[in-house]
Amino acid sequence: MNFHILTLFPDMVLDGLNTSIIGRAVERGLLSINAVNIRDYTREKHRHVDDAPYGGGAGMVMQAEPVCAAYRALCERTGKKPRVLYMTPQGRVFNQETARELSREEDLVFLCGHYEGIDERALELIVTDHLSIGDYVLTGGELPAMVMIDAISRLVPGVLNNDVSAEIESFHDNLLEYPQYTRPEIYEGMPVPEVLLSGHHKNIEEWRRQKSIERTLERRPDLLEHAVLTKKERIYLEKLLASRENL
Ligand code: ADE
Repeated sequence: MNFHILTLFPDMVLDGLNTSIIGRAVERGLLSINAVNIRDYTREKHRHVDDAPYGGGAGMVMQAEPVCAAYRALCERTGKKPRVLYMTPQGRVFNQETARELSREEDLVFLCGHYEGIDERALELIVTDHLSIGDYVLTGGELPAMVMIDAISRLVPGVLNNDVSAEIESFHDNLLEYPQYTRPEIYEGMPVPEVLLSGHHKNIEEWRRQKSIERTLERRPDLLEHAVLTKKERIYLEKLLASRENL
């Protein structure tokens, strides 16, 4: 999978993504990260990429020309016309389902704005998706792009060494992940739940599902509406709800 990031701060994105799991996946040829400096596409003699907004107001607006030129050069170079995701707090809020959907693309372009945003005409010409990482305003689109690239990358086959853990994750079946424990068996007087030491896989699996349900009810009850539960698990959830009502 090939990620292309159109940005004024290519080093920020490259430094952030060329480490750990994503960095290793790049080395192994499973992913490529191509940071394109929008400033390289200005024809302006002082290499400016922004100007004051028409109609007045605070701040500067990124000009349409270098943004469109950077995208078109990329299309020519790759012979493809990938989707362009514009990072904006006005977009649809990115979630695990969006990550899953985007992980099926071969190439993706992330357009990162700065200052007061990008000239609307460039957005009309090249952007296919407006995406946000949440209801707060950041200084630029680089961090959102990095967040999305990380979430998408771990779903690309082979990026995580065991494909199982990409599936058994928070939000799988719309449930939060169960608690995890490792050595030592007792830490500050707190023992590891006994079932995990039993070696009984079926019981362990059942316990983990129950913990996922409990945790989702406690922390993200909004998710339960769309949770995928067996009949037995649904009864378990109803019992939890009933015992809460009794409290
Ligand atoms: N740019 C600035 N804030 C943002 C946000 N919350 N999500 C995506 N892009 C942004």
